[in-house]
Amino acid sequence: MERKKNKKIMQSIVLAGGQGTRMKSSLPKPMVGILGQPILSYILDTIVDFSSQVEVEQKIGVVVGHKKEMITDFLSTRQEAYEVAWQQEQKGTAHALECFLKAYPKAWESDYMAIFCGDTPLLEVEDLKEMFHELVESDARGICASFITNSPKGMGRIIKGEQGFKIIEEKDASEEEKLIKEVNSGFYILKTSYVKKFLGEIKAENKASEFYLTDLFDFNRQVVAKTFSRPEHFLGINDLSQLAFAEGLLQEKKIKKLQAQGVRFLKPETQYIEWGVKIGQGSLIYPHSIFQGESEVGENCMIEAGVTLKNTKIKKGSQVFAHSYLEEAQIGEDCLIGPFARIRPGSYFESQVKVGNFVETKKTTLKKGAKVSHLSYVGDAEIGEDTNIGCGFITCNYDGVNKHQTVIGAGSFIGSDCQMIAPVKIGDHCFVAAGSTITHDMENEDFAIARSKQITKKKIAKKFLKVKK
Ligand code: UD1
Ligand code: CA
Repeated sequence: MERKKNKKIMQSIVLAGGQGTRMKSSLPKPMVGILGQPILSYILDTIVDFSSQVEVEQKIGVVVGHKKEMITDFLSTRQEAYEVAWQQEQKGTAHALECFLKAYPKAWESDYMAIFCGDTPLLEVEDLKEMFHELVESDARGICASFITNSPKGMGRIIKGEQGFKIIEEKDASEEEKLIKEVNSGFYILKTSYVKKFLGEIKAENKASEFYLTDLFDFNRQVVAKTFSRPEHFLGINDLSQLAFAEGLLQEKKIKKLQAQGVRFLKPETQYIEWGVKIGQGSLIYPHSIFQGESEVGENCMIEAGVTLKNTKIKKGSQVFAHSYLEEAQIGEDCLIGPFARIRPGSYFESQVKVGNFVETKKTTLKKGAKVSHLSYVGDAEIGEDTNIGCGFITCNYDGVNKHQTVIGAGSFIGSDCQMIAPVKIGDHCFVAAGSTITHDMENEDFAIARSKQITKKKIAKKFLKVKK
């Protein structure tokens, strides 16, 4: 580790090796999604933010174990470099730290070690800063973040003595100790020299026969339990009920951020907006919307009730009416979509496009000002500027084996109830009469009508009208 002049080195280590049995998930716990991103990603973001705000040189380590490939794959998608250590058998939190230090002995040259559990996504940069500054400014050798809770079940209890404190895990606590409401958050910042002195002394002499990192703390060791007054930041997620609770808190945080940027939510408590979503100033969001993945909504948009956006980008001034479902789509400025529109992957709309009720689009480009206002299927198609498609239009794009293209030029008019037997190409300023099934290409300014002629026979309808008995 090369020391940059005067900069202290902090070695952060995220313990993410456990299985998380209580989650009952096929994913390792740190990879379980919360508001659309792995639990682990929030902790890493917080550490990265901290490093950008505090004068330390930061190294970030992650201990992996259960289904480690899933975690290493995820880490490789992130910008920063991580030191990843493998804990082959999960023998406890102290053992996890030992595994890391065996794999990265250079970590012993750091000044501080910050230890995080891989299941606390609500931790904030402010919490890290407060802990760090207290460690730097006091003569403590280690600080454990604690908080007071009325439901301490499952957590390690903070036992305070005349000189310092120790931690007793729930399984090992006496009935009297279980009544203690101050608990260990699992987040610590320690002087590396302190870890060096005491880590090797930890034994698996407890009910779970695990090596507990909490045993690092004991009376007369110049360590401090710093009691935080915001327990929700330290919430560790062990089961699906805690996951739902944490997700609710994170959702409130996300919505407050967007509100501060000028986004108005009607009934914000009904929204599901994932962490990676962006919404521009002046946009109005009706109740019960679902915004997922990397979806983006521009400025001054309106999204009505019950709309779902999955990885969809919408530019400024567009309006999506109630109960529309948009997936992997790109919508230009000032478009009008829905209500009840289904916009499937590969839909690309330029500006001022109108797609009305019960319209489905897929792999389709609608150029500026194109309109498909009612009850249509438009797949594998390109529709030109200002072209108007009537009601009940269908691109017959599939022959049972392959998909084929329909291309319609600019300024054309397609009457209601037309079908395009793809592949087919229609030029600019064409007119297709209502009820036509088009099988042949049309050149610019052509007119086509493709329906059987009407026969009207005078006064014989009663032969066909059935009378109810
Ligand atoms: C831990 C603390 C407890 C504290 C609580 C706060 C210990 C012994 N107990 O309990 O005092 O109140 O967090 O939420 O530390 N892990 C590994 N390898 C292992 C075991 C665990 O990497 O061998 C990782 C897990 O993936 C997890 C973290 O360590 O991210 C904590 O483990 P977990 O089983 O959740 O500990 P708790 O029982 O919650
Ligand atoms: Ca936990």
